[in-house]
Amino acid sequence: MAKISIFVLLLPLLCILTSESVENRNAQPVHCLASDREALMEFKNGLYDPQNRLSSWRGSNCCQWRGIDCENSTGAVSAVRYGFLNLSGEIRPSLQRLKSLRHLDLSFNAFHGISIPEFFGSLQNLQYLNLSHAGFSGRIPPNLQNLSRLQFLDLNSLRLEVENLELVTGFVSLKHLAMNEVDLSMVGTDWLGAINQLPFLTELHLSSCNLSGFIPSPTSLNFNSLQVLDLSHNKFQSEIPGWLANISSLQHIDMSYSGLFGRIPLGLAELPNLLWLDLSVNHNLTANCSQLFNGRWEKIQMLNFIFNKLYGKLPSSFGNMTSLVFLRLDNNAVEGGIPSSIGRLCNLKSFYLSKNKLKGNLPEFLEGSEDCVSGNPLPNLEYLDLSFNQVAGPVPLIESGIDSLDLSHNQFSGSIPPNFSETMPHLLLLSLSNNNLSGEIPMSIGEMSSLVVIDFSDNNLTGRIPSSLGNCSRLNVLDLGNNSLNGMVPDSFGLLQELKSLHLNQNRLLGNLPSFLTNLSKLESLDLGYNGFSGTIPSWLGDGYENLTILTLRSNAFSGRLPPELSKLSSLQVLDLAGNDLNGSIPAKLGDLKAMAEEQKVNRYILYGRFLGHYYEERLVVNTKGQTLTYTRILSLVTSIDLSGNSLSGNLPLEITRLSGLVVLNLSRNHITGNIPGNISNMHQLQSLDLSSNQLSGSIPPSLSSLSFLGFLNLSNNNLSGVIPYTGHMTTFEEPSFVGNPGLCGLPLTVTCPGDDSDNGDGSGNAENDGFIDNWFYLSVGLGFAAGIVVPFLILAMKKSWSDAYFGFVDKVAEKLSWLIERRGYLIGIAKQWLSHRGVSS
Ligand SMILES: *[C@@H]1O[C@H](CO)[C@@H](O)[C@H](O)[C@H]1NC(C)=O
Ligand SMILES: *[C@@H]1O[C@H](CO)[C@@H](O)[C@H](O)[C@H]1NC(C)=O
Ligand SMILES: *[C@@H]1O[C@H](CO)[C@@H](O)[C@H](O)[C@H]1NC(C)=O
Ligand SMILES: *[C@@H]1O[C@H](CO)[C@@H](O)[C@H](O)[C@H]1NC(C)=O
Ligand SMILES: *[C@@H]1O[C@H](CO)[C@@H](O)[C@H](O)[C@H]1NC(C)=O
Ligand SMILES: *[C@@H]1O[C@H](CO)[C@@H](O)[C@H](O)[C@H]1NC(C)=O
Ligand SMILES: *[C@@H]1O[C@H](CO)[C@@H](O)[C@H](O)[C@H]1NC(C)=O
Ligand SMILES: *[C@@H]1O[C@H](CO)[C@@H](O)[C@H](O)[C@H]1NC(C)=O
Ligand SMILES: *[C@@H]1O[C@H](CO)[C@@H](O)[C@H](O)[C@H]1NC(C)=O
Ligand SMILES: *[C@@H]1O[C@H](CO)[C@@H](O)[C@H](O)[C@H]1NC(C)=O
Ligand SMILES: *[C@@H]1O[C@H](CO)[C@@H](O)[C@H](O)[C@H]1NC(C)=O
Ligand SMILES: *[C@@H]1O[C@H](CO)[C@@H](O)[C@H](O)[C@H]1NC(C)=O
Repeated sequence: MAKISIFVLLLPLLCILTSESVENRNAQPVHCLASDREALMEFKNGLYDPQNRLSSWRGSNCCQWRGIDCENSTGAVSAVRYGFLNLSGEIRPSLQRLKSLRHLDLSFNAFHGISIPEFFGSLQNLQYLNLSHAGFSGRIPPNLQNLSRLQFLDLNSLRLEVENLELVTGFVSLKHLAMNEVDLSMVGTDWLGAINQLPFLTELHLSSCNLSGFIPSPTSLNFNSLQVLDLSHNKFQSEIPGWLANISSLQHIDMSYSGLFGRIPLGLAELPNLLWLDLSVNHNLTANCSQLFNGRWEKIQMLNFIFNKLYGKLPSSFGNMTSLVFLRLDNNAVEGGIPSSIGRLCNLKSFYLSKNKLKGNLPEFLEGSEDCVSGNPLPNLEYLDLSFNQVAGPVPLIESGIDSLDLSHNQFSGSIPPNFSETMPHLLLLSLSNNNLSGEIPMSIGEMSSLVVIDFSDNNLTGRIPSSLGNCSRLNVLDLGNNSLNGMVPDSFGLLQELKSLHLNQNRLLGNLPSFLTNLSKLESLDLGYNGFSGTIPSWLGDGYENLTILTLRSNAFSGRLPPELSKLSSLQVLDLAGNDLNGSIPAKLGDLKAMAEEQKVNRYILYGRFLGHYYEERLVVNTKGQTLTYTRILSLVTSIDLSGNSLSGNLPLEITRLSGLVVLNLSRNHITGNIPGNISNMHQLQSLDLSSNQLSGSIPPSLSSLSFLGFLNLSNNNLSGVIPYTGHMTTFEEPSFVGNPGLCGLPLTVTCPGDDSDNGDGSGNAENDGFIDNWFYLSVGLGFAAGIVVPFLILAMKKSWSDAYFGFVDKVAEKLSWLIERRGYLIGIAKQWLSHRGVSS
């Protein structure tokens, strides 16, 4: 972190340094050509510069104006650098008169609605043209191809209409072509033909261009100097072309998210200069790892294969990729064990292998002590993720130097070795979730006091929680959920004052609600569900948890009354106290829960430890009707109160209808009496309402039918009476929503109301209830947001197939998002490296 902030601090410094050097150069000023000055003035007069960014444009020597470079000898203007000035207006052709102009940068301006000026084609000496993010749209003027000296062309993020790329064949000197986010869908499959005619091309950036179909294979390759190729985020349906492996100059290949399938050409491993290969999230790329990693990979630093179909075993030659810094193989089908040669990857920082089929024993020792300068194997590893596999035997003992270990989602078995901590005292992240680990959590865990994230969830750990965990005082996340831990939670947890997320759910823990929680004021998520906790819910739980968003005490043995003080939890979005022995009435104060009175509009993907480049994803496990659903990506949109399965009595307080952001309300299986409030329609976000199995009486308020997002309604088994207001949205609910109320009549029940002779009982045709599966499922679907993108609410009578597709969409967006976040982490890593190479350290 310290290094990052130094980097941030340095940036302005660097800028100052560079701008000073420009001024120095101008200290013995060249005087600009009068004609060039005039041309610039006229150009300036066409611009709209609301922030007056061009205020330095005065005085006769235009060579001293901001962003202008002149030739030393003649004073002719050679460069116009006007990036990031938020300029708009028109671009006057007077620029043409700058006969020596070689460099034109108008990037990041706001020339919306105008096209690239045609006269640019006559700027014959132009070598550099940067129009990225400058707002131009429309067609690229054809005469631009006259720019035969152009070496750099950057058109990123322009809304251009491009029918073919013939134009680029004119750029015979071009070295760098960037058209990211330009729609090339009209170009068809022949986009490569034109590009292949650029013999000097070293960088090609065509990310997010809507390119589709098969990547063509030219008969001969002309762009033999290519170093950087970015074709990511396209919609190809193609194999990776074999010719890639013929371009020995390639250093950097990004073909992630681009719809590739088939075998990864083994030839890529032989590219002598390749540093960076990103083939992530193509889903259908395959390779046998024993072959793929048997290649040379001579200089490779970064390999990313996440979300593909790599299979086979990691060969022992794996350890030969000694330059490797970053490797992602998670979400593939890699088998076998981990070769001991990985110890020789002395530069490796991140190694992700989760969600594969790894099995067998982990290496008992690692090679590499003699190879790595520090004398330790893997001296630089920060993140090791082996989770979700099937690895057997003890968890590997890896020598010191590791910062982060994520072994989650695998099938490791055996116990966590007691000397685990000695070997990795500097670990920041330790994830062993989703394996088959058994035995106790070793006491020595407390020695790993740097840990920020501990995730041991979904294993078979037994015994007590060691009190030494309290020594891990930097913890943000502690997830011990879904194990078989028993006994009391140690009081030493009160020392974990940085804790934001505490999951102890699904264990066999006992005792009162631990009083150490009063110390954990930073908690955002507390899940103690499915344990044997008992006693009352103390009123202090309402105090001082400014950011507590999720409170789940579900399925314990809590008794007594529900403290009204809980209403002070101003961030609370999920209150789940279902399945306890709570009695008394529902406090009217609950209507004051602030976060539930607001509609949750923007999804926040809740991740902790994100600054590590790896993260822990906040989750909420909900078990209903035999289904277990885990909420992660849309969790921040969930607002719910579940008090079902207690012994609550008294009336349903009117105040609860103030919670107009509430999406789920479940009060079923209590002894609640009185009427359903007539203004229940105030809770207009409600998607699931379950008041079943209580003693509610009176009629069903007609306003209920105006809750148009409601996807699940259960009012059965009460004492409700009168005519069901079966109009509007209410007609999407069927008999089961209303049965067991002796006094209710009318559709969809078969009981006809007195004096009503309308219908013959077979009612609403489609008795089969296929479309609706679960209220919680609806909850997520109807929320209708992903990653800040607002999607209209789609709840009305949605069928399963639709909702599946919708879910898929949400997941895709979120996946992309999380990957971006991770990639940023990686970039920060690179930045750090860069700094340390320059001797900058904290
Ligand atoms: C112009 O002058 C600067 C410093 O005076 C020098 O670094 C640069 O190389 C010169 N450029 C040409 C083209 O002579
Ligand atoms: C850019 O200029 C427009 C007016 O043309 C102004 O509304 C906007 O705030 C400016 N943006 C920035 C980042 O300065
Ligand atoms: C164009 O300008 C942007 C913004 O300064 C910069 O990020 C990009 O690298 C430039 N493109 C080229 C080809 O230099
Ligand atoms: C530029 O190209 C166009 C064709 O695209 C041609 O008609 C015109 O003569 C060229 N202009 C120059 C100055 O070469
Ligand atoms: C890609 O095409 C889709 C529709 O085919 C369009 O909505 C989208 O804006 C295009 N993307 C780009 C970057 O032009
Ligand atoms: C790539 O190299 C192979 C053999 O090294 C050759 O057969 C093939 O024609 C080359 N492909 C191209 C497109 O040059
Ligand atoms: C992967 O291939 C399968 C079968 O060929 C296809 O149904 C699926 O759509 C492909 N997935 C992607 C993401 O391209
Ligand atoms: C890996 O390196 C070792 C020694 O450095 C060498 O003997 C072996 O042949 C290499 N394996 C491969 C596949 O290159
Ligand atoms: C992968 O390749 C190796 C060596 O060529 C071979 O022995 C093994 O059977 C292959 N694995 C699979 C799953 O095809
Ligand atoms: C950890 O303990 C195991 C067996 O208990 C032993 O083989 C190993 O050498 C120990 N490692 C360290 C670093 O102490
Ligand atoms: C957990 O361990 C016990 C024995 O210690 C075993 O009986 C049980 O099957 C294990 N549970 C799982 C889910 O592996
Ligand atoms: C609650 O969150 C806000 C915003 O993230 C933060 O500034 C504040 O310090 C947090 N409060 C506590 C007690 O952690």
